[in-house]
Amino acid sequence: MEVIIQKDEHAAAYLTAQVIASALRKKPHLVLGLATGRTMALVYPVLVDLYKNHGLDFSLCRTFNLDEYVGIPSDGKNSYRSYMKKNLFNKVNIDIRNTHVPHGMAEDLEEECNRYDNLTQECGGIDLQLLGIGRAGHIGFNEPLSALKSRTRVKALTPETMEQNRPLFDNPDEMPRRAITMGVGTILESKRCLMLVTGFKKAEILKKAVEGPITSMVTASALQLHPHCTVICDEEAAELLDGKNHYRWIFENEPEWAQYRNSAK
Ligand code: F6R
Repeated sequence: MEVIIQKDEHAAAYLTAQVIASALRKKPHLVLGLATGRTMALVYPVLVDLYKNHGLDFSLCRTFNLDEYVGIPSDGKNSYRSYMKKNLFNKVNIDIRNTHVPHGMAEDLEEECNRYDNLTQECGGIDLQLLGIGRAGHIGFNEPLSALKSRTRVKALTPETMEQNRPLFDNPDEMPRRAITMGVGTILESKRCLMLVTGFKKAEILKKAVEGPITSMVTASALQLHPHCTVICDEEAAELLDGKNHYRWIFENEPEWAQYRNSAK
């Protein structure tokens, strides 16, 4: 795992989008794993700008979202499919048939989860998986005690996650209690993981995920097992990290990051 610290949430989101763009330019058929939420809302406008003004081409790209609420129709205002349409899919030249989000209204949810896992495999697996982290330490909706080898399945949301996401619903009573989520094991099979973490509210959980023990109580800590995982964070989220100086050194000196240093915001 490597940790890259940027000065604020805009710079961190900008760098995240640049890493995605670079992967897409190298491999036009990229299988891209996507995430939703407030943190990601700063990444998608950068990707849209790269498409509109810098020739970034999504036409051959295939996407798989991490999760979807159970009980919300795909075209419902608060579905993650709607979030993706609003923030990315409707604004770039992606073929909507190449975009995949689990169906939270599927009659047989177990079958839907298996279908989703199989489809990912049929596409050759995920090349680059974008991730955020919840305050309970989740990646996707893999709440505390999710098995580190878990596959796509239905998970009950914790009260903390529901509290975190309820304000995004016009009617707070509509906040679902369950979601379909890729498993920790599924996420770890991605060829590369890219986790974006911003804001002081995430500082404590980021420290646990990155510098604490690997535990199913903080499923993001499982990323320590991944052979190619990059965490991009801002100064506020990095506040409690012991290794800050070392992490800064990596960004300033490692050749891999040279192409991004000059364009960093
Ligand atoms: C969303 C997802 C979640 C979020 C996490 C952080 O698709 O997978 O793990 O990334 O809950 O959400 P925000 O960014 O709203 O704090």
